[in-house]
Amino acid sequence: MKNCTKVTIVVFMLFLSGRCCGQEEDSDVTPMEKAEVEALYSTIQGFVGNSWNGSDLYPDPCGWTPIQGVSCDSFNGLWYVTVLNIGPIHDNSLSCAEKLEFRQELFQLKHLKVLSFYNCFQSPNKVSISIPNGSWEKLAANLESLEFRSNPGLIGNIPSSFGALKNLQSLVLLENGLTGKIPQDIGNLVKLKRLVLSGNNFSGTIPDIFGGLRELLILDLSRNSLSGTLPLTFGSLISLLKLDVSHNYLEGKLLDEFCYLKNLTLMDLRNNRFSGGLVLSLQEMHSLEEMVLSNNPLGGDIRTLKWENLQNLVILELSNIELKGEIPECISELKKLRFLGLNDNNLTGNLSPKLEKLPSLNALYLSGNDLKGELKFSKGFFGKMGRRFGAWSNPKLCYPVGVMSTDYIPYGVKPCHQEEVHLLKSNAKNVLLNGDINQTSHFITSLGFSTCEATSGFLWTFMILGLLFNFYIVF
Ligand SMILES: *[C@@H]1O[C@H](CO)[C@@H](O)[C@H](O)[C@H]1NC(C)=O
Ligand SMILES: *[C@@H]1O[C@H](CO)[C@@H](O)[C@H](O)[C@H]1NC(C)=O
Ligand SMILES: *[C@@H]1O[C@H](CO)[C@@H](O)[C@H](O)[C@H]1NC(C)=O
Ligand SMILES: *[C@@H]1O[C@H](CO)[C@@H](O)[C@H](O)[C@H]1NC(C)=O
Ligand SMILES: *[C@@H]1O[C@H](CO)[C@@H](O)[C@H](O)[C@H]1NC(C)=O
Ligand SMILES: *[C@@H]1O[C@H](CO)[C@@H](O)[C@H](O)[C@H]1NC(C)=O
Repeated sequence: MKNCTKVTIVVFMLFLSGRCCGQEEDSDVTPMEKAEVEALYSTIQGFVGNSWNGSDLYPDPCGWTPIQGVSCDSFNGLWYVTVLNIGPIHDNSLSCAEKLEFRQELFQLKHLKVLSFYNCFQSPNKVSISIPNGSWEKLAANLESLEFRSNPGLIGNIPSSFGALKNLQSLVLLENGLTGKIPQDIGNLVKLKRLVLSGNNFSGTIPDIFGGLRELLILDLSRNSLSGTLPLTFGSLISLLKLDVSHNYLEGKLLDEFCYLKNLTLMDLRNNRFSGGLVLSLQEMHSLEEMVLSNNPLGGDIRTLKWENLQNLVILELSNIELKGEIPECISELKKLRFLGLNDNNLTGNLSPKLEKLPSLNALYLSGNDLKGELKFSKGFFGKMGRRFGAWSNPKLCYPVGVMSTDYIPYGVKPCHQEEVHLLKSNAKNVLLNGDINQTSHFITSLGFSTCEATSGFLWTFMILGLLFNFYIVF
């Protein structure tokens, strides 16, 4: 219907342009309140600069001269702006000026449903700007989505008046220069489905305000400077699908309340200071597909959990969390598991060859533990895993010689009968090879391996050959 009207008008204008036009302008434009049109022009001019003259360039902004990034809808025969996207999304989008301002006229666009700023506030060293505190309540009746993405020049706090936007379903403040605490008032936004505050520098504790946010699906507070413990009201987020608080300074125990997050598919807590071990609530999160807990001083025993309860797990990343104990066989019941990261822990004991039976597994990292005994995986398994198998820096671990083809010796693991290798060792060769080792290991590091210590020149030569051969078939 709307498109149809527009086409008619455009055709009509083409017809008009054949004549000398001007007089009849008013009847050709889409009906809008004068105040609405002027509020739109002034709002945009505030962001794109005074040289932008809306009435010259876009005399009919909801009709035959649409502005890229602006959409309108009609209410009772009049047209209002419902979507305003500022920033270079498309080639001919509105791009922001260096010196820009939020004008009060923004808050007169009362039918706005969607407001977004992308790549707009760009001058962190020149003019930085804060989100105004006042007047957001004027947009409360209709605003559903508010986004600020990739605006390093946008500084200051989240205004507490955002708490008035009671119809907001999506609040995304991603990768800006915002700081300060997360305001309590966010807890009023009971219709929120998505709250993303990632990649700013918010600090202080996460306020305990989630009790009413029962419709929240995505909560992403990652890559800030948040500290303190997780709020207990996280347990009220019963609809949540994705929880990401990674890369902060959060501490304390993981929550017993996690057991209420029955629909959660992704949990990322990596790079924090969580402690207190694995809590039993984790094994109640039956929908979980990705559990990422790496780089926390978590501690505890890997056998605490009934891992077989988490049948949907695809990614299990538990590296560098001070985990001890033997790797339980029940992990080999996680049929969907593709990535298992257990490296840099204090895991002990023998490795069950049953892990090889995981049908989807294509990355297994075990390096930097205290595992012992023979690696009893088949040649085919090592062939399949290639560089995505890591077991180096487990001094008591070895691979059975002869069973395995030299093409697939596990990187950085010694053969089980090391005496024979020692016989071939020569000091002069070692000095020479150490030079190579440094170069080689840097090369390896850049491909995703970490460096490891050489045990003998003989072994190294073999491993390097093995690696080169692998690379050859990979690339
Ligand atoms: C835009 O240009 C018109 C003349 O074409 C002028 O009357 C008007 O004041 C200008 N508006 C702004 C905001 O510069
Ligand atoms: C922001 O506005 C709210 C009311 O709209 C007020 O309570 C609060 O103190 C203001 N905050 C700042 C930092 O001005
Ligand atoms: C983030 O904020 C903290 C203080 O809250 C400050 O120490 C730190 O330097 C800030 N980081 C960046 C990258 O600005
Ligand atoms: C959890 O997911 C199921 C299936 O998608 C859905 O039917 C149910 O409503 C969800 N539960 C909550 C509390 O959102
Ligand atoms: C883990 O192992 C390291 C070195 O093997 C040791 O220093 C550390 O005390 C161990 N940590 C725990 C919690 O057992
Ligand atoms: C290898 O590199 C390390 C630092 O990366 C250096 O300390 C060491 O001396 C190097 N060894 C050789 C043999 O070049």
